[in-house]
Amino acid sequence: MRLLLTGGCGFIGSAVIRRLIGATDHSVVNVDKLTYAASEDALEDARGHHRHTLIQADICDTSAMREVLATHQPDAVMHLAAESHVDRSIDGPGVFIQTNVVGTYVLLEAVRGYWAALPAARRAAFRFHHVSTDEVFGALGDGDAPFTETTPYDPRSPYSASKAASDHLVRAWHHTYGLPTLVSNTTNNYGPWQFPEKLIPLVTLNALEGKSLPVYGDGANQRDWIFVDDHAEALLEVVTRGEPGGTYAVGARQPRSNLQVVRAICAALDARVPDPAGPRERLITYVADRPGHDFRYEIDPSRTEASLAWKAPHDFDRGLARTIDWYLANRPWWEGIRAARYAGERLGTKSAAA
Ligand SMILES: NC(=O)c1ccc[n+]([C@@H]2O[C@H](COP(=O)([O-])OP(=O)(O)OC[C@H]3O[C@@H](n4cnc5c(N)ncnc54)[C@H](O)[C@@H]3O)[C@@H](O)[C@H]2O)c1
Repeated sequence: MRLLLTGGCGFIGSAVIRRLIGATDHSVVNVDKLTYAASEDALEDARGHHRHTLIQADICDTSAMREVLATHQPDAVMHLAAESHVDRSIDGPGVFIQTNVVGTYVLLEAVRGYWAALPAARRAAFRFHHVSTDEVFGALGDGDAPFTETTPYDPRSPYSASKAASDHLVRAWHHTYGLPTLVSNTTNNYGPWQFPEKLIPLVTLNALEGKSLPVYGDGANQRDWIFVDDHAEALLEVVTRGEPGGTYAVGARQPRSNLQVVRAICAALDARVPDPAGPRERLITYVADRPGHDFRYEIDPSRTEASLAWKAPHDFDRGLARTIDWYLANRPWWEGIRAARYAGERLGTKSAAA
């Protein structure tokens, strides 16, 4: 299969491309605007591989999207390009509307024109897979049943509202034009190559550097965590085996409060690189809550697990251990980002449980 993947230099997209190149025979055209969140290094061995082609382009650019499709003739599109950081969406929602909503619309229209002109057999086999978040479902209270594929939408932040809008567009293109779409909604991802503004790398790196570990409110907010390589594996199952028009709730059944996550990171680091000043939990600092902070997200992945015969291999402790080891072994990457692209912008002021 030849795949066109958007956002392939981002955290999750690069994990999908590493897997595509390392574990399948598929080829991939990676369309990425290369925003602040992109890292070509994250492609690792896939970067120079003959089955991977990187094209720097904006998904909001109609003619660029039409040209990429016409030139590379993909059998499927995996759409991951997005603005993805909730705190940034609160500070500046405009770019989220532009990329996540308008960009998805532009891509859908370009893909619809391309798909409609394909020969019948290729048109029938074609898939447009839209990668989304569980944040579109809003917030759960303590004791509420986890989200499923049929949970009504109730987004609360500019980020989740923009993702919800894009999910609606994708389903509308399926129902109205017959485009064979797939939507997957996933919980919080963590793992290697995650940009250091997100909760787990932010806390890991601050803790390593002896800086304060900012926790919103009282730290009771809960997220459900999936290791990024497990998510990448699930996405390839969805795009190759999913039913057109289908929705897939992808999760690993690993809910944790933010405080539990921060404490687990401190314990893992203390075990690996003890701090002479004492256990790192002393660095935890409670900061004013994020406006509109959703209390709890949790996915029930039962239907996806049954229909794709897939289950996330990592539990949180094992995934976190791999993540911490990776950040310890890859200092030059995150030190460069923290120094050059990110210093002073948010570090030490807020946590970021996206
Ligand atoms: N990270 C998570 O925990 C999580 C959870 C659920 C769903 N998602 C969804 O998964 C997808 C990928 O998330 P991520 O964490 O890898 O994001 P990311 O921010 O790490 O990467 C996004 C990538 O998209 C690219 N991009 C941004 N705007 C673009 C544009 N206009 N045109 C082309 N490329 C553009 C960036 O350069 C970057 O490489 C997103 O759609 C996100 O909403 C993420």
